Amino acid sequence: MTTTDLPASLIPTLSGQYYTDPAIFALEQSHVFEDMWFCAVRSSDLPTPGSFKKVQVGSESVLVVRSRDGQLRSFLNICRHRGAQICTEESGAVKRAFQCPYHAWTYDLEGKLVAAPNLTKMPDVDRVQYGLVPVALREWLGYAWVCLAKEPPSFEDEVVGEIVERLGSVEAIDHYQLDSLSVGRRITYDVKANWKLIIENFMECYHCATIHPELTEVLPEFADGYAAQFFVGHGAEFGDDVQGFTVDGSEGFDRLPGVEEDQDRRYYAITVKPTVFVNLVPDHVIFHRMFPVSADRTIVECDWLYSHEVVESGRDVTRSVELFHRVNEQDFAACERTQPAMSSRAYANGGVLVPSEHHIGAFHDWLTQRLAR
Ligand code: FES
Ligand SMILES: [Fe+2]
Repeated sequence: MTTTDLPASLIPTLSGQYYTDPAIFALEQSHVFEDMWFCAVRSSDLPTPGSFKKVQVGSESVLVVRSRDGQLRSFLNICRHRGAQICTEESGAVKRAFQCPYHAWTYDLEGKLVAAPNLTKMPDVDRVQYGLVPVALREWLGYAWVCLAKEPPSFEDEVVGEIVERLGSVEAIDHYQLDSLSVGRRITYDVKANWKLIIENFMECYHCATIHPELTEVLPEFADGYAAQFFVGHGAEFGDDVQGFTVDGSEGFDRLPGVEEDQDRRYYAITVKPTVFVNLVPDHVIFHRMFPVSADRTIVECDWLYSHEVVESGRDVTRSVELFHRVNEQDFAACERTQPAMSSRAYANGGVLVPSEHHIGAFHDWLTQRLAR
């Protein structure tokens, strides 16, 4: 970061290399994605014992699996014999075991080594010790969060704490009962931009009036650029003539059963570092997970979550999906428009943040402190 003699209104951003340098991205992999709780999969994507999903967490390939006892477990996707990747498919289901395609070492759904050619002739090989390497896993809000750190940080402080800091209490999100909601739509975006540009964009609303005509129609206070998500407990209010959080402001669905009066007709946006955004509206939840691929590419998976009844009944969710899908496309286009500039000499010392963006400076401080650990 630069410390130039900026006018008081402006504070510096990170310099351009933070968004382009593979060495910095590698540091982020080890100090951020592999060291924090990383939101990996929607639990309901693994419905039955043997269902699995492969997820890239930092530099590691991780398998998340539903075990025979119904619990989710996760392991490094690496065979303990000579290191072949166990699963190459993105997701799928096995009957009762994972078999390495190289020499056929076989692991049960709890990760234990259960079979291998000539294993009975090697009675000294401990089947747990030579099982798949386990990875810490917690389920919350209907998602499985994994952590590769040797000693995982407190989930309550690191993940729950971010929500509490924003909403004022954990009950405020409990009202939406995210773990009982169903995925009404999922859209995956391949964004040619650094993951931090996507976070920074999500953290400010200075751009809303310029690029989000539909969103500012529904949430008029977003038009002044100051409706930042950092005011504790503040939800942006729907416009007077707006009936629901839909692309044309037309009626949505019934309020989710737990959502309280003071949360009705309001939109709350929450950033859970490093890779999750949660958007709460009365009748649904929009949940973003980022999967950083390289310094200049990020996959974003976005789930639109509705009550089980809405999804089961086959009601048309198009108008409510369309609103945030447009917001996503507008935001990601802005990020992609910015990414090439990160390697320009014009951005060698970074850019500036205006007062309604100053809280992004705290994100930059957080990041540089983590990378310096
Ligand atoms: S590497 Fe997996 S069985 Fe040999
Ligand atoms: Fe935006």
